[in-house]
Amino acid sequence: GKSGYDHFMLKEIHEQPTSLRQCLSGRVDELAGHITVEELTDLETPRSVQFVACGTSYHAAMYAAALLRDGGIPATAYLASEYATANPPIPDDTLVVGITQSGETADTMSALRDANSRGAETLALTNVVGSSAARECDHVLYIRAGPEIGVAATKTFSSQLIGATLLVENLLEETADRELIGALRDLPSNVQAILDNSNAEAVVDDFLESNAFFFIGRGTHFPVALEGALKFKEITYEHAEGFAAGELKHGPLALVTEHTPVFAVVTGNGENAHKTISNIKEVEARDAPVVVVTDGQSDAARYADAVLEIPETHEQMAPLLANVQLQLVAYHMANRLGRSIDKPRNLAKSVTVE
Ligand code: M6R
Repeated sequence: GKSGYDHFMLKEIHEQPTSLRQCLSGRVDELAGHITVEELTDLETPRSVQFVACGTSYHAAMYAAALLRDGGIPATAYLASEYATANPPIPDDTLVVGITQSGETADTMSALRDANSRGAETLALTNVVGSSAARECDHVLYIRAGPEIGVAATKTFSSQLIGATLLVENLLEETADRELIGALRDLPSNVQAILDNSNAEAVVDDFLESNAFFFIGRGTHFPVALEGALKFKEITYEHAEGFAAGELKHGPLALVTEHTPVFAVVTGNGENAHKTISNIKEVEARDAPVVVVTDGQSDAARYADAVLEIPETHEQMAPLLANVQLQLVAYHMANRLGRSIDKPRNLAKSVTVE
C-alpha cells in the first residue's frame, strides 16, 4: 500500500534515504577507503564505454558517462532507440552498459542485443533481479531500489546515479577519494534533510497560471535539468523543457517571458556556477521568475525569486540532491493541478514496444 501517502510517487520519493542505503550496503568500506561491487569483480577496465537507455534512465546514463570521462575513460550515452541508427563503431575492449530500471524496455533490450551480437561485452544496471536485461548481459549491477509502482521514476533514478558511481569507481583502478566516500555515507541523511525541509510545495503555488517551465543546468546538472523537465511534463501535463544552461542564448531564450518560470541548478562556487549565474541573469532580464536549486556556496540565490536549498556535499552527489528538490516540484505541481500522478495519461511503467 501507500503507507499513508496520497500517492506511490510521494511514498517512493520519501523512501530514498532507505533505497540509497540499500544500494550502498556492503559496497563501500569507509575504513579501507574502498568501493567494491562483488558482482563486478571479474569485470576488467574497458578501453571505452557506451551507455544505452531511455527516458529517465538516459539521464542517469549521461551522468554516468560524464563521470567516466572525468576519470579518463572515453564514454558516450546513447538513447537506446537511436543506437541502431547511430550505429557507433564498437572498438575492441568496449563495454556496453544498459541502464534500465525495469530491465524490460524494448528499445534498451534491442540495443543490448545489437551490442551483444556485435561482440561487445555488456552490463545491465537494473533494479529487477532476473529481468530480461539482467539475463541478456554478461554482467549485472543491481541498484536495489525496491519495487517502484509510480510510473514516474524517482527512487530508481537516484539509485541509478549511485549505481553509476559504484560502477565507475569499480572501473577506475584507483583508490576512491575519501571525500566521495564521506559524501556517500552522508547521502541518505542529506536526502532526508531535503525531504524534511523542502519548500517546493509553496514555490509551485505561485506558478499555477504559468505557460511553460524551463529547467537549466550545466555539466552534470544538465541531465538533472532534463530529468526535472521530464518528470514535470510527465505528471503535470504542462509544457516543460530542460536545457543546457549555455544553450539558452542559442534559441530557447526566445520563449522566455514573465510567464515562464526557470528552474536553475547551481552548486559549488566554481566556473560552472559562475557561468550558470550569467545565464540566470539573461532570463531575469526577460522578467522570468527564477527558482534556484543551490547549496548556497555561490551567490546564485541573489538573483532568484525563490530558492530550493540542498546541503553542501561532494560535487558528484550534488546532482542527486538537486534532483530530489525537482521531484518534489513536479509532484506538488501535479498534485495542485489534480493530475493522475501515479498513472499519467498515455504512459506505461514498462514500455515493451519499440
Ligand atoms: O525501465 P526503464 O528504466 O528502462 O524505463 C525507461 C523509461 O521508460 C522510463 O525511465 C521513463 O522515462 C519514466 N517513466 C520517467 O519517469
